[in-house]
Amino acid sequence: MRIKVITSNEGKMREYGQALGVLGIEVFQGDVPYDEVQADTLEEVVEKGMEELKQKEDSFIIDDSGLFIDRFHGFPGVYSAYALKTLGNEGVLKLMAGERRRSARFECCIGCKLAGQEPFLVSAGCQGEILEEARGAGGFGFDPIFSADGGRSFAELGLEEKNSISHRGRAIAKLAERLAEETGP
Ligand code: IMP
Repeated sequence: MRIKVITSNEGKMREYGQALGVLGIEVFQGDVPYDEVQADTLEEVVEKGMEELKQKEDSFIIDDSGLFIDRFHGFPGVYSAYALKTLGNEGVLKLMAGERRRSARFECCIGCKLAGQEPFLVSAGCQGEILEEARGAGGFGFDPIFSADGGRSFAELGLEEKNSISHRGRAIAKLAERLAEETGP
């Protein structure tokens, strides 16, 4: 099986390639523009994106993710891309300076549409914390400031290791189960 991941994010693409590749599912990148509407949940953003994309594409995956910081009642959440662009990791660390309550979670919602089939969504999260300082050169986005276990940041993990515990890795595992059901033996 071969499926298009519609994203401009190379980091996400590498994670899909690794996680689905080991299951024998080949992915390729499609940079098809679509409206990422502002909505209250990742699921709504993905649903709206699917509505638009299914008019032009037969078969594809999209992914909307975010970092939800408990101290800020879930901010940046659905505003994560904007927060990363404006505040950056250093800005988030400044906002969190001196905070003892550092719990946060990443969430990932994947929308999938296969040719001739109804679209479906799968979601997963990964609980962790905002580190005191940015660490590591791998990954992308907020990876250097997030750790799932208070130890290494996501940016210090290899691709496979991040996928084994991350929001996206877990959502991809659910996606793989659904793909197996939908496409049969
Ligand atoms: P998007 O809307 O799904 O592209 O993601 C929103 C923001 O969260 C972007 O700035 C991404 O870089 C960031 N982001 C999404 N997934 C991850 C991740 O797995 N690690 C770190 N940052 C992420």
